[in-house]
Amino acid sequence: MNVHCLNTYRPGHGLPGSFYTDPEIFAEEQRRIFRNSWFFAGHSIEVAGRGDYLTLDVGGVPVVVVRDQDGGLHAHHNICRHRGSLVCTKEKGRAARLVCPYHAWTYGHDGRLIGAPMMGEGFDKEAHGLKPAHVGEFDGLIFVNLSETPSPFHELRDHLSPVLASQGMTRAKVALIRDYDLDVNWKIVVENNRECYHCEGNHHGYVSVQYDTENDNPALKGEIAERLGECRRRWERAGLDVARVNTSSNNTAEWFRANRTPVRKGMVTESPDGQLVCKVLMAGFTDPDMGTARANTNINFWCHANSDYAHTVRITPVSPTRTIVRAYWLVDENAVEGRDYDPEAIAAFHHQVMSEDWDICRRQWRGVTSPSFEPGPYAPDKEANVDRYVRWYVGRMSA
Ligand code: FES
Ligand SMILES: [Fe+2]
Repeated sequence: MNVHCLNTYRPGHGLPGSFYTDPEIFAEEQRRIFRNSWFFAGHSIEVAGRGDYLTLDVGGVPVVVVRDQDGGLHAHHNICRHRGSLVCTKEKGRAARLVCPYHAWTYGHDGRLIGAPMMGEGFDKEAHGLKPAHVGEFDGLIFVNLSETPSPFHELRDHLSPVLASQGMTRAKVALIRDYDLDVNWKIVVENNRECYHCEGNHHGYVSVQYDTENDNPALKGEIAERLGECRRRWERAGLDVARVNTSSNNTAEWFRANRTPVRKGMVTESPDGQLVCKVLMAGFTDPDMGTARANTNINFWCHANSDYAHTVRITPVSPTRTIVRAYWLVDENAVEGRDYDPEAIAAFHHQVMSEDWDICRRQWRGVTSPSFEPGPYAPDKEANVDRYVRWYVGRMSA
């Protein structure tokens, strides 16, 4: 690790430019952060059936997540214990057994090697199962952790679940998945996601639906207080957890957070006009005005779940200068495409926000990769969450 780089970091400021481009730093991040944290892998509904699997990259390691015959979920390194071929080669599929395409070594869903043709009598199959990874699942979300000593999964679950459990993501279907392939470092994407200082100038659609930018607007103080009070009472009667109902996106835990926020008065969901984009509500809601359940992790995940659709994001760092952002849009399992929703209309709001964000990221990328870049100070309140994120990151990189 290039210690010199950390020495040039000034708390309260952004990271030095080398943190966005240096392959050595990227390799350390893969090791210390992505192979050593709960990484958002995808949705339970993507692997709902027995034998359903999905593959992904976690910190440079190919991983397969698979549902067994009893409904249990397993994660393994997707690397054949013979000569290292990928075992599952498709992004998603269903398989009674996991068969390596190279020489047909065959593994059970639990990773045990159950067939290895012509390896002879003395060959120890027991010792050649797929390497396991930790997997955790709650409220329709799947996380994997490649560490041998992972942080307790319940810390994440216990914090996010009170906000997300009511959103019906276990009884949903995927309306749309879209991959954004970005030529920027992954931290540029996460840092941008941690503040709304930029919203007023860049996200007119977002601002017209949410209160994020109005928390310090005296003209809206009364409206926000009234809206919060009314929503809290109504949501509590509907059985929702209202302990974290607010219009702030302040961090509520060390590396993850969750809250529920109302959308603007007269609006019910995150859509261009604030009105429903899917006729069938999720989670059996009968009242469409349930706000947005928001959550994120410092690693690779964020979520905005509304009454009629949920939007989630999985970030995969590919190289120091390339990041793939996978965006999901979920609707209730009973919603019918064409009758109840149009996938493009479901995606319109967040696609617009993300497109604006990617433009921001690309412009910033030009500057931070320039030899004359010097990180400036964060705004005390408006960028407090970016500052917290960067401090957390520096802590993880220097521990
Ligand atoms: S590499 Fe998988 S069976 Fe040979
Ligand atoms: Fe943004």
